[in-house]
Order: sequence, then C-alpha cells, then structure tokens
Amino acid sequence: MERVTISLDEDLLEAFDAFNRRRGYENRSEAIRDLLRQRLEEDRVEHDAAPYGIGCLSYVYNHHQRELARRLTQSQHAHHDLMLSTLHVHLDHENCLEVVLVRGETAAVRRFSEATIAETGVRHGHLHLISADLDQSHHHHSDHVQHPAEDAAAHVHVTPKT
Ligand code: NI
Repeated sequence: MERVTISLDEDLLEAFDAFNRRRGYENRSEAIRDLLRQRLEEDRVEHDAAPYGIGCLSYVYNHHQRELARRLTQSQHAHHDLMLSTLHVHLDHENCLEVVLVRGETAAVRRFSEATIAETGVRHGHLHLISADLDQSHHHHSDHVQHPAEDAAAHVHVTPKT
C-alpha cells in the first residue's frame, strides 16, 4: 500500500470527520478509500467501461394500481435472462417493496431498471449497479470440459471488481 498526503482546508476536514463519526469510520484512510471506490465505480458504470454488471433494483409500488403488478411481472419474465432473484415484501395493505437482483450486460441491466422505475405508480426506484467480471469462459470455450458444479455456478459466477 502506498502512502499519499493530501491537503484539505479546515471546513472540509471538519465536515469529513463529522461524516466519519456518523458513519462509524475509525480512521480517515478507510473512509477515503471507500469514497474513492464509490466514485470510481460510479464513473466506470456511467461511462459503460463496465460491460457486465450486477444490479440491485429496488422500488415501492401500490399493488391495487390497475395492471401495474401484472406489467411488472411480465417485464421481469421478458428479461428472465437478467433475473437472479426477486424479493417481494408486502409493506402494508397497499404498498409492496420489491428488490430485484439482476446481472448481465450493463446496458441491458440499466435499460430494464430504468423502464421499471419509469412505470407509472413505481416510486422510490433506485438502481445500485456494480461492475463485475462475468465468467464468460464457460460460454466461449465449447471444448472446455466442465465439472458439473462449475457448470451450475457459471450462470451466477460474477466477481465484483476491486
Ligand atoms: Ni405485495
């Protein structure tokens, strides 16, 4: 690990230390590393430098709203190649929270997520996208002898970067 020295003005440092206390960081270096990783990750994903990604899409919707629940389910089935898992929580009599884990080409993950969030009646939509190295070797080398366990894992084998 390399050591770097940075200069901060007092106000910024104070705000940073307050942030660290609130978030439970015990040292500044770890907080800086996390902030940097987060920003670099955002940048990578924004610029499509990450061809593959894992997405955590969350939103709230009213299941009484006409046709909405059906449309959301239909859309998930239409994108079954991206779906890893869907968590559905009945929050109260009307509202449902769904968390959908998706993985695949970043552009496709983003398109699906944005379309879901844009549905009328979908609220608090948020996509957290993490770039990932998708293990494509299983798909590209047809001569590769696959271990059964390895084969089963191939479909969900993603390694987050950094
Ligand atoms: Ni529900």
